[in-house]
Amino acid sequence: MKITLSVIKADVGSIGGHTKPSHDMIESAKAEIKKMVEIGLLLDGMVTYTGDDICLIMSHVHGSDNKDVHQFAWKTFLKATEFANECGCYGAGQDLIAEAPSANVRGAGPGVAEITFEFNRKNPRPAESFMVFAADKCGPGAFNLPLSLVFSDPMYCAGLMLPKLSEGFSFDIIDMNSKEDLTLTLHAPEDLYKIAILLRDNERFGIKAIYSRAFNEQVAAVSTDRLHTIAGKYVGKDDPVALVRNQGIFPAPEEIISPYVKAHYIGGDARGSHNMPLMPVAINTAVTGFYCLPIISCLGFSLQSTGKFANNYVDFFDNPAWDFVRLRAQEKAIEMRSQGWSGPAMLPYSELEYSGFKEIIEELLNRFKKSK
Ligand code: 13P
Ligand code: MG
Ligand code: MG
Repeated sequence: MKITLSVIKADVGSIGGHTKPSHDMIESAKAEIKKMVEIGLLLDGMVTYTGDDICLIMSHVHGSDNKDVHQFAWKTFLKATEFANECGCYGAGQDLIAEAPSANVRGAGPGVAEITFEFNRKNPRPAESFMVFAADKCGPGAFNLPLSLVFSDPMYCAGLMLPKLSEGFSFDIIDMNSKEDLTLTLHAPEDLYKIAILLRDNERFGIKAIYSRAFNEQVAAVSTDRLHTIAGKYVGKDDPVALVRNQGIFPAPEEIISPYVKAHYIGGDARGSHNMPLMPVAINTAVTGFYCLPIISCLGFSLQSTGKFANNYVDFFDNPAWDFVRLRAQEKAIEMRSQGWSGPAMLPYSELEYSGFKEIIEELLNRFKKSK
């Protein structure tokens, strides 16, 4: 049978500023998921948060972009928004940009990562294990460096040298500035330099999907919507999610998480306007540290023959090994912020997210005069 994993996330309000959703918001989303499992729309589901974003992780048999599943997610976020309004939360309903999408929620505000695959527990996938990444205070380009390293560079994923993986992986790269979902497929290893020349630009190009070339199987999906492209103005950071299948014909989990050791600099952070390190955190972590660092969580699951997965999970970044990286992230953050607004510490003019910055610069530009 074909199974779909759908990961849909949205920021619909948070407590005490942009930190985390309130208890009631999370409980209401959990109750909605439970109902849908009972009536059979979903095989299973789970609700988590990373910073102020609620993430719905679901399995079902209805395929990607399914209207009923997406409408369910939208209504669940609307319900959570009611609780956000009730408790006076900051940014209630923030990511629900469209009025009421009639079918799937892509392009309406929530971030979506989905993979549909044949699930028969036979070769080449006798066991189906997968990982869900959720990031807050950053854009989808946060995944460009880690995912491209894992799926193209044996320095990060020695498994690429093995027969099952050595044919390489194909990358669907999306131009996030376009509203038309323009994508280009490039192949690792032969297109490596071309992949790099696009993905170096975290703000414009993103990885939408990755496929195994030998097995023609999708291994990864990333939510690549940019809220400012949808709304035409800044309405919060995109805060992407990613779904990655692992083991066997795909990289192993430790290979997939190894690039996060870098705590690489990405666009985001306070007011979505800085370049700051991405800090790995445990699931259900609030954004309360200094500077409002971009954060990322990662859960691992195994799919049971019934399509259930949520009763057992592993939290990859909830491990003392990552404390070292968290400390490095703080150090890198202090270094970058020590130069305040200067140069690479802040995003370039084209990316400054708060329209207020742009308005002031426009006003100043109008006051420039030719020197005599
Ligand atoms: P969120 O998108 O997580 O609400 O954060 C946006 C922001 O501007 C942080 O300062
Ligand atoms: Mg927010
Ligand atoms: Mg957020």
